[in-house]
Amino acid sequence: MSTARMARFHTLTVSSLHRETVDSIVIGFVIPPALRADYAFIQGQYLTLKVFVNGEELRRSYSICSSPLDPDELRIAVKRVEGGRASTALVEKLQPGMTVEVMTPMGNFHTLLHTANRKHYVCFAGGSGITPILSIIKTVLRAEPNSRLTLFYGNTDADRIIFRSKLEELKQKHADRLGVHHILTFGKDEDMLFNGLITVEKASALTSRFVQDNTDTEYFICGPEPMMVNVSEALEKLGVDKKRIHIELFTSPVSSDVKKDEPKPVEAGAFNGVAEVKVIMDGREHLLKIPANGDAVLDAALDAGLDVPYACKGAVCCTCKARVVEGKVEMDMNYALTDDEVADGYVLTCQTHPRSANVTIDYDQH
Ligand SMILES: Cc1cc2nc3c(=O)[nH]c(=O)nc-3n(C[C@H](O)[C@H](O)[C@H](O)COP(=O)(O)OP(=O)(O)OC[C@H]3O[C@@H](n4cnc5c(N)ncnc54)[C@H](O)[C@@H]3O)c2cc1C
Ligand code: FES
Repeated sequence: MSTARMARFHTLTVSSLHRETVDSIVIGFVIPPALRADYAFIQGQYLTLKVFVNGEELRRSYSICSSPLDPDELRIAVKRVEGGRASTALVEKLQPGMTVEVMTPMGNFHTLLHTANRKHYVCFAGGSGITPILSIIKTVLRAEPNSRLTLFYGNTDADRIIFRSKLEELKQKHADRLGVHHILTFGKDEDMLFNGLITVEKASALTSRFVQDNTDTEYFICGPEPMMVNVSEALEKLGVDKKRIHIELFTSPVSSDVKKDEPKPVEAGAFNGVAEVKVIMDGREHLLKIPANGDAVLDAALDAGLDVPYACKGAVCCTCKARVVEGKVEMDMNYALTDDEVADGYVLTCQTHPRSANVTIDYDQH
């Protein structure tokens, strides 16, 4: 699914800030009326923030936890990662009234909602992975009166459960449509299914016990990489169609075969010279010369002084998405674009290298 809107940063004021757990905060932003349309979002999408640490600009993405049905609210939750530069700075230093440069919303972690849908949304969240899932839960409860949701939510211990009371409140209010099951690494539940890490076996047992119906089911997974791998494997073994499994990665997979900082070697026989790459942005054309075995298009464009959009530079966030309208290219990695988007010519420019002498890449077709 693609929108015509180009990703842009605007300066927003922190309107509220509340400590959710010892190591996480929820940040609310005021959206001025003139920017409401730019910050309209879909449940499951994220914002990218510029965070300045010791004078260095870091770009980090944070999923929106509020619902698009609450237009006055735009909130994100940030969990401090041990040794993490941006998350530590945000959790320790941000105050209400401060301003932050925030990119307009992006992301594909959603399905199209419809009031007539009768679906079962089964969500697996781990730690801060609850953030986009909370937005999905809140929105589905209001937008699809005949759909229901089941959440399996993994955390180390009860004190670290982000949005614990909000989930409890939603569960009480929608007891017939929302099931919430906490799985705690160091838990002491009598039923061992709710203690320990979410392994393949546990994900499979949870699904078999709580998702027995044949309704139209969509699966959403967001959390630490090992949990996501385990849940996906369990679902695939249970015969779930891959198209029904929606995954949001917060970091590039460590298990990737591709070395993150090295581009894929050019295949024998493929174009291996210096390509003329035309980059279209804001309706203007810029001509760059990029070696097939050199920098990715995004880095070459940044080096040339173009203000092209990016955040993770690791193939997970899709902020750098653009469309190839001429020529051949190859991506090193892709964890963000759907198969349909790739078939439509979309690429992650942070991973893209030319594979023909002439290439045209259009950032305006986002
Ligand atoms: C689409 C998207 C949505 C995201 N949504 C959220 C969100 O809603 N809430 C949230 O708190 N974070 C979210 N993240 C993660 C966030 O963008 C940062 O990666 C995270 O805050 C760590 O950044 P840092 O600068 O503190 O750590 P860095 O200084 O970049 O990293 C320090 C060390 O921590 C490891 N690390 C980095 N990120 C993580 C992580 N998430 N978990 C465990 N280890 C990590 C790195 O491998 C590194 O060794 C999201 C990421 C993406 C791509
Ligand atoms: S910048 Fe995140 S996928 Fe390219």
